[in-house]
Amino acid sequence: MTGAPGPRGVRLVGTGRAVPKRTLTNADLEKLMDTSDEWIVQRTGIRTRYISDRANDEGVSGLGARALGLALEAAGLSVSDLDLIICSTMTAEMPCPPAACLIAARIGNPGCGAFDINGACCGFVFGLNVAHEMVRGGTYRTVALIGADTLSALQTYTTAGRSTAIIFGDAAGVVIFRADPNPSLGIIAQSMHTDGTGWKDIYVPRCRHDAPPGVELPESAFGHVQMNGAGVFKFAVGTFPRLIQETLDKAGLRATDVDMYVCHQSNARILHAARERFNLDESRLYVNIDRYGNTVAASVPLCLDELVRSGRVKPGHKVMFLGFGGGLTWGSSLWQL
Ligand code: UT7
Repeated sequence: MTGAPGPRGVRLVGTGRAVPKRTLTNADLEKLMDTSDEWIVQRTGIRTRYISDRANDEGVSGLGARALGLALEAAGLSVSDLDLIICSTMTAEMPCPPAACLIAARIGNPGCGAFDINGACCGFVFGLNVAHEMVRGGTYRTVALIGADTLSALQTYTTAGRSTAIIFGDAAGVVIFRADPNPSLGIIAQSMHTDGTGWKDIYVPRCRHDAPPGVELPESAFGHVQMNGAGVFKFAVGTFPRLIQETLDKAGLRATDVDMYVCHQSNARILHAARERFNLDESRLYVNIDRYGNTVAASVPLCLDELVRSGRVKPGHKVMFLGFGGGLTWGSSLWQL
């Protein structure tokens, strides 16, 4: 249902998450490639991750629809209340149709708009900023934003692929927003950035024409994530604190005025460095990468759903969402819940 145009508040009304059945622990990976639990935990903080099985209906739309069902239940809404379904993903089952349309079909085909956005690891945070403006502006009343990815489909679980295979996991998370008469609810400050020249630090080539200039890719690289891990790490360690500071400055707030930092879970070391830089205690910057790995667009809503359901994030809180990743992209979304 759409409403009269004009500024209004945006309330977060429900969250949900879904993961595949199968886990892949560090001990499992030790059997598949030359790696060790000790190396993975020390370098990334990851202990286990979930791996999807398409035969079990665990693609992006299967996981996304399950998570959306749980979010609708938590919000006390029905499928017909949705005005728009947006799915942030880089691993939709097919290039066409968009995963959001498959999700719409799975939940009962509400007839509302549905489309995907691809902002890689930053996609969900960019999606928050986009979805918020659509509700704030008065055109849409109830929007579901899904973050779902199954990067396991783009990996080789062999020693040759070990630097990316160990970090990624599969999952989906959802947030539902609604227009609210209280105009102070919603985004306080946000930012979205790209350095497109950094695209070659993370990419998934389809053919030899996709290779960066001067690089000859073997055929085995096609369809698999190519990542300059150390380069991305350096970019993220530097960018992350700058992004937090930029967002705080825009909002006129101090780091401790924010109740919770919900960050893309790329590497525990990157998160801990940011925590130390702003002198935040452990309870204020959430880390769950040990149990899920890096789930790309799903990582932020996965954290949020855990935080909301455990009561650690609630109405009245200020929450900063942060993402960075392929593109290169980085962005933030600071909310008054
Ligand atoms: O989601 C957004 C995008 N992605 C990221 O944010 C990822 C950011 N980057 C990272 O998290 C880290 O760079 C990785 C975890 C991917 C890699 O850790 P690193 O400390 O940067 O390792 P490295 O790539 O510099 O490799 C160091 C060594 C190498 O051996 P040599 O050449 O020093 O002998 C690698 O071959 O570690 C080796 N190595 C491994 N050893 C055991 C790389 N992967 C593995 C592995 N197990 N899985």
